[in-house]
Amino acid sequence: MTILITGAAGYIGSHFVRRFLKTRQEKILAIDNLSGGYRPAIPDDEKLVFHQIEIADSTQLNELIRTHEVTALVHFASSILVGESEQQPLRYFKNNVSNTLSLFDSVLSNGIKHVVFSSSCAVYGDPLFMPLTEDHPRNPISIYGQTKLMAEQVLESLHRTLDLSFVSLRYFNAAGADESGEIGEAHVPETHLIPNVLRVLTGQLECLQIYGDDFDTPDGTCIRDYIHVNDLADAHIAALDLLRTSKRKLDEHINLGTGAGYSVKEIVDKCQEISGKKVKSLIKPRRAGDPPRLIANYAKAQALLSWQPRYELETILQTAWNWELNRRY
Ligand SMILES: NC(=O)c1ccc[n+]([C@@H]2O[C@H](COP(=O)([O-])OP(=O)(O)OC[C@H]3O[C@@H](n4cnc5c(N)ncnc54)[C@H](O)[C@@H]3O)[C@@H](O)[C@H]2O)c1
Repeated sequence: MTILITGAAGYIGSHFVRRFLKTRQEKILAIDNLSGGYRPAIPDDEKLVFHQIEIADSTQLNELIRTHEVTALVHFASSILVGESEQQPLRYFKNNVSNTLSLFDSVLSNGIKHVVFSSSCAVYGDPLFMPLTEDHPRNPISIYGQTKLMAEQVLESLHRTLDLSFVSLRYFNAAGADESGEIGEAHVPETHLIPNVLRVLTGQLECLQIYGDDFDTPDGTCIRDYIHVNDLADAHIAALDLLRTSKRKLDEHINLGTGAGYSVKEIVDKCQEISGKKVKSLIKPRRAGDPPRLIANYAKAQALLSWQPRYELETILQTAWNWELNRRY
């Protein structure tokens, strides 16, 4: 058996690939167009073949799926920047919806019945209650969040009308790096808080911009739920197991977070402790659509996937710091 992984050279995809190879015997057909991923993030392993192709290149993809006898899809590939999605909406609709539709067509027309999809807490929009459960209304406030919602809705319709089981995993803030130090977060541009704090500490960035310190939170800065990337990877493996062992067709949406929230200032303080250096920061106005708090209720992941986060914030920051000091790509 072989699983198809899109976005395999990206941040989360590459961590999933390593965890999967370590713990499972199945083979991997890994694809990525390397628009945001890195070839060195893909390990050399006899159980893995990598192809640099587009998810929408159905001619090549159909052939690969047939040759490798693919039985399941884990779909990480996506355009991922919330701010950019507001400036280039068509690019986001094209990649995250239209290209994704083409991928689902390739997969379904080759008899694949199991899909794990990378969704996001961005599908919820402004929270009405906290922590967020999966039945919170979906009301995204960015084009990025809207494209994730649209992909979820496509999966729901395909599940209703065809023989498709899916698990859509709604990640909160992915962070940290593999303990090996061989892979880690390397987005360009980098918009995530932790790597940017660390880049200030290594002198790659002059100053950290903090968007708003007048939120209704104890120290006035935004609170987010940071989850280690290997915890995310393990949840995907559990989701694949669930799809395979379930006796019924599945259409599940599952939050992946830790249930704990940390403010921007708390993250800065902890990074200063770990590195022994000071972070220069500047308070900027709030960004549109930034809720004060985003924290996951992950009870459903515990119940359905028998999963729970293993990494504490300290380890998340320490592994991210080790990666930042010795980046391979
Ligand atoms: N990083 C987070 O905190 C976070 C949070 C919520 C959801 N997500 C979702 O998780 C997934 C992975 O995110 P990431 O942080 O690893 O991003 P990433 O940019 O590091 O990885 C995405 C990969 O997909 C590839 N890709 C993009 N479009 C492609 C296409 N058309 N064909 C082939 N390959 C393509 C890129 O080259 C890249 O390697 C995305 O779907 C993202 O929306 C991420």
